[in-house]
Amino acid sequence: MNHALTQLQPYPFEKLRALLGSVTPAADKRAIALSIGEPKHESPAFVAKALADNLDKLAVYPSTLGLPALRQAIGQWCERRFKVPAGWLDAERHILPVNGTREALFAFTQAVVNRADDGLVVSPNPFYQIYEGAALLAGATPHYLPCLESNGFNPDFDAVPAEVWKRCQILFLCSPGNPTGALVPMDTLKKLIALADEHDFVIASDECYSELYFDEDAPPPGLLTACAELGRSDFARCVVFHSLSKRSNLPGLRSGFVAGDASIIKPFLLYRTYHGCAMPVQTQLASIAAWNDETHVRANRDQYRAKYDAVLDILQPVLDVKRPDGSFYLWAKVPGCDADFTRDLFEDQHVTVVPGSYLSREVDGVNPGAGRVRMALVAPLAECIEAAERIRTFLQAR
Ligand SMILES: Cc1ncc(COP(=O)(O)O)c(C=O)c1O
Repeated sequence: MNHALTQLQPYPFEKLRALLGSVTPAADKRAIALSIGEPKHESPAFVAKALADNLDKLAVYPSTLGLPALRQAIGQWCERRFKVPAGWLDAERHILPVNGTREALFAFTQAVVNRADDGLVVSPNPFYQIYEGAALLAGATPHYLPCLESNGFNPDFDAVPAEVWKRCQILFLCSPGNPTGALVPMDTLKKLIALADEHDFVIASDECYSELYFDEDAPPPGLLTACAELGRSDFARCVVFHSLSKRSNLPGLRSGFVAGDASIIKPFLLYRTYHGCAMPVQTQLASIAAWNDETHVRANRDQYRAKYDAVLDILQPVLDVKRPDGSFYLWAKVPGCDADFTRDLFEDQHVTVVPGSYLSREVDGVNPGAGRVRMALVAPLAECIEAAERIRTFLQAR
């Protein structure tokens, strides 16, 4: 067997199961899970219809490159959404469909890391665990940058030594971040592009929460926006990852894309051809319908906004918790140990959250997730309100 498999960490939900396995929750309260980051709002009916209308395509082998019409729809969406000048994103060279960002982040790392170079894959800490597993299985060493409140929950990139940048092969960004909800600011994106040029590494920007934000007049910028502002029409060393899972409540469709530097996309396409992960044609056609519509995305944001408003009204008087820049998470500071808090809350109130320390690694004796928990506001509004009320009761009784 591949020995690197032994380096993989248990997934946070396995650790959570072990923590809660022997605990008996209050029998009079129904379970409310704020733990899993799975969108629960209704999937758009017109996307389901497009999928159903194209089931005859089951008889067709899809190509890894995907339909030109899908890549064009994605390119136009990027132009509208991230202010990329028309014509910069060539659907033939800069865009690839992927079966959700999870597999794409993993596969991308395998394609980009050069095992011979003793390289680092640099990521935020806390982080989405695929970055770490992908790095280990690609033969690279993960390097974690703490995301602390004192720096707006972003890594302090200025504090990263040049030796780290020299060995860096991929820098993962996650903006808005899971679990912090923090955005990487535009001036930071531009500084990081300059560092990528200086030290020759790739920036992989995971933007799968980019459409979950609060101010309709100020959609958060992404790495493509930074390229546009810099006049970087070749997107050199920059690749973004997007998904319909959160934007359109379609986690089961398995549809997303990568876009950016054509000199990276081309070998990544070669890798994917062998990887055998082409998107089914009916999924591609349903995805075109989803990327071409914003009405359902605005309605989705309205639902999250209502949940944040209601939940924060209840929790802020009793808990140190802020509205993030984006995403559907709360990254709350809790009294005492985060795992103890999670276990006791489950026992008393039958509400499940994720201990922050399960989403991050201890480096030099500090775990930046310690003392925090992640709450995903994915349940219906009434359930989110009930969970918040139970958390308030729990905290008041302590
Ligand atoms: C930060 C982050 N990236 C990527 C993903 C993967 O999403 P999908 O594969 O559905 O696009 C998730 C899912 O929870 C996530 O939280």
